[in-house]
Amino acid sequence: MNRARTPLIAGNWKMHHGGASGAELAAAVQRIAAQLRGVECVVAPPFTALAAVAQTVAEIAEQTGHASIGVAAQNFYPEEKGAFTGEVSASMLADAGCNWVIVGHSERRQLFGETDAFVAKKAKVALEARLHPIVCVGETLEERGAGATLEVVLRQLRAATDALVAGKGAAVVAYEPVWAIGTGKNATPADAQEVHAAIRKELSARDAGLAERTRILYGGSVKADNAASLLGQPDVDGALVGGASLDVAAFGAILRAAAELASRPTSA
Ligand code: 13P
Repeated sequence: MNRARTPLIAGNWKMHHGGASGAELAAAVQRIAAQLRGVECVVAPPFTALAAVAQTVAEIAEQTGHASIGVAAQNFYPEEKGAFTGEVSASMLADAGCNWVIVGHSERRQLFGETDAFVAKKAKVALEARLHPIVCVGETLEERGAGATLEVVLRQLRAATDALVAGKGAAVVAYEPVWAIGTGKNATPADAQEVHAAIRKELSARDAGLAERTRILYGGSVKADNAASLLGQPDVDGALVGGASLDVAAFGAILRAAAELASRPTSA
C-alpha cells in the first residue's frame, strides 16, 4: 500500500445474494465502512439485487451522514441498446445506481469466451458511461508453471491500456491469478508484489502520472488472516474479494486491515 493511493476493497459476490439477502448484506457492509477512514469499499451483487442494494446503501449513507459504499455490476454488454437478448448495457447499470463494473474477470474469460479485445472494449464503454471499470487480469496455473505469468498478465493489460489511459485513473486494475481464485491458495505477498510492480511499470511506460494514480487490487483467496500481509506490499492498493465478501465478519476484517494500514504514518 502506498498512502498516495486510497486503498479499495471490493467484494465480488458472484452468483450469490441476488434477492433480499443482497440488500441485507450490503446494509451490514455499509454500516462497517461508515466507521472506517481512509479506505474505499465497493460491493458487486448479481444484476437482480443491484437496484435494491444501491437504494439501501444510499439511504443508510444519508441517515448516518457518511459516504455511501460503491456499487458494482459484475458484467455488462458494451452496446447502448438493441437486439442482445439477455444482456444489460452500461447506461442501464448507471440507471440502477451502479458506479462501478467488473470487466474481464477470469470466470468471464474462461466460461464465456471473453477475449482481451472484448474486455478492452468493455473498459472503454464503461468509462464513457461514467462507470469505474475494475479490469481483471491473471494467469492460469499452467501459464505460471510455464514461466509465462508476466507475459500473460502484461498482454491482457496492454489490450486495455488505451482505455486505462483515457480513464485518467478512473479505472482500477485487479490482478487475480486464476489458480488462486476460490482455491484457498493465495499468491504470496512477494509474488503479488512482483506482478503488481510489473503492471505499474507497464502503465508508467505510457503515462507515469497515471501509473502512480492507478490502483492495482489483488484478488484470489483474500481472507481476514492474509489481507494485511498482501495489502502491506507497496504496489498492492486493495483487494478484490470473492468468497470472504459473503461473510460480513470476514469482509469487515479485511476492510479494517486496509484502514489500519492506511492510518499508519508510513506505509509498509
Ligand atoms: P475468492 O476470493 O473466492 O478466491 O475469489 C476471488 C475473485 O474471483 C474475486 O473476483
